[in-house]
Amino acid sequence: MCGIIGYLGEREATPILMESLKRLEYRGYDSAGVAVIETGAGDRRTSVTKSEAKVDLLIAKLRENMPTGHLGIGHTRWATHGKPTIVNAHPHTDCHGRISVVHNGIIENFAELKAELEAAGHEFTSETDTEVVPHLIEQYYKGDFLAAVRQALQRIRGAYALAMFTLDDPELLIGARLNAPLVVGIGEGEYFVASDITAIIPYTKKVLILGEGETAAVTPLGAEVSTLDGLPVEAKVIMLKEIHETSEAAANAFRGRMTDDGHVNFIEFAISDDHLRQYDEVRLLGMGTSLHAAMVGEYVIEDWAGLRARAEDASEFRYRRPTVDAKTLTVVITQSGETADTIVGLHQAKERGSLTLAITNVVASTAARDADGALYLHSGPEIGVASTKTFVAHLVSQYLLALRLAAVHGRVSLERREELARSLRELPDQIREVLDGTTEIARLAHRYSRFHNFMFVGRGINHAVALEGALKLKEISYLHAEGSSGGELKHGPIALLDADFPVVAVCTASPTREKMASTVHEIVARDAPVLALVSAGDHSLDGIVADRLEIPAADEAPSAVLSTVALQLFAYHVANELGRDVDQPRNLAKSVTVE
Ligand code: F6R
Repeated sequence: MCGIIGYLGEREATPILMESLKRLEYRGYDSAGVAVIETGAGDRRTSVTKSEAKVDLLIAKLRENMPTGHLGIGHTRWATHGKPTIVNAHPHTDCHGRISVVHNGIIENFAELKAELEAAGHEFTSETDTEVVPHLIEQYYKGDFLAAVRQALQRIRGAYALAMFTLDDPELLIGARLNAPLVVGIGEGEYFVASDITAIIPYTKKVLILGEGETAAVTPLGAEVSTLDGLPVEAKVIMLKEIHETSEAAANAFRGRMTDDGHVNFIEFAISDDHLRQYDEVRLLGMGTSLHAAMVGEYVIEDWAGLRARAEDASEFRYRRPTVDAKTLTVVITQSGETADTIVGLHQAKERGSLTLAITNVVASTAARDADGALYLHSGPEIGVASTKTFVAHLVSQYLLALRLAAVHGRVSLERREELARSLRELPDQIREVLDGTTEIARLAHRYSRFHNFMFVGRGINHAVALEGALKLKEISYLHAEGSSGGELKHGPIALLDADFPVVAVCTASPTREKMASTVHEIVARDAPVLALVSAGDHSLDGIVADRLEIPAADEAPSAVLSTVALQLFAYHVANELGRDVDQPRNLAKSVTVE
């Protein structure tokens, strides 16, 4: 597993390659190298710098002699074919040093291609499988670099993520992938090609993900994605962008609705305190991710407002004889506002005289129109099929609803309300902290992506977080993932666990934190590797769990948001490692409008 990076843009390429390689070093550090096109007065050359050891050595060499230019590629190597030597370090070039290539993956038919190319007169210098790529491209190159790349790649079997350029065109960077991940980042006047988003996250959050067997031809005018047959492909905006909008989504969900002392006012759902006090039960209906959000709502409404609350799978609710009545407030949780199962549940609750409220992202959606009131998430459109930022916005909206109900029922002191309001206001910054930790999460995902089964556990509010973590992983990576409460685990699911069945345990600060620690001990005793999410500064599980991921310390409810964002990133990176179509996972639809 190697890390690759390519840059084309208005800035100097070398410092960006250096920084990106540092961020990719978790993928391998046997050797490293960069190639940059230097354009002087009337002169153009490819400057290649390599180190036979870690990226730091390469950086030291580059600092001494910094190539200047706007197009470059870089590589950090985890050796497969050939020892970690300077000669075997990437980039590799053709016979004339005009075509430069960095590669992650394994070219399975390299021996036969190499023999064929040698017979045609090509001279090889390294022991790597990668070196066949520039020579093969050279073989086909008749002035159209992209065409030659496509022809060459059609001959290659195995796995590759490639970034490459020719000295003939300092404004063309090509990326290509098959069975190895590659993303294209789009910045302001600059473009990136990288093994994963962690390499380029400081520069841009606008990313296209390449599909299997696709190439991206990047020029100052943009990135054009096509198949190896030259058919254009519509580029996809990935879920990651939306995860990175989570902090804003959280802020938008409480903006203008909560004062510093935790007084909540919903302008679009103007209901008096006296009216609200008439309801002694809250039912929360949703499906999938929205059902998990509803479970969090159930927890905080019960905890803060002391009201009976129940989250229900809307598709089951509709086929029972629901006991909702005129004293029930029914809240439907739906991003799209169009989910058929949820809408029917809404109609049934209404028929039984319940007051209905839709919490939705889509203005004038069916749920918003048909419910007695609507609260909008204001998250902006969510394009990725898997819900991410809107889950967080749903949580924050329900926290506000719980605060309002708690105030109405006199169940929360002013101090506690102020405290909760403060912790909600801190949430967007804390979410940004989690997002900044994406390199560590990618490193963990890289390590855990070799497993086929996962268990997610949590207690209390984090039971729903665990269920959502498992859902996110399974839907975008197609790996088997289950969620369980910490207590339930020992009543059956624990039988699944062994050294090949890791457990993601949400152990952040909460009233059930100690109970979770006991659960972790039970899991470790069964040899299952544990990745524990812990609050910053909590080292009590050090030496017990295989891995720990720190989440900024926060109150229980905001902490549930932070853990979720971390688990969304974890799922994204695992799926990306496996080369899945993260934006449009198989068999799913963004809005399920059939029963
Ligand atoms: C999972 C996901 C789905 C939706 C579910 C309900 O990532 O997005 O589970 O949450 O289909 O959709 P909405 O919220 O539109 O009612």
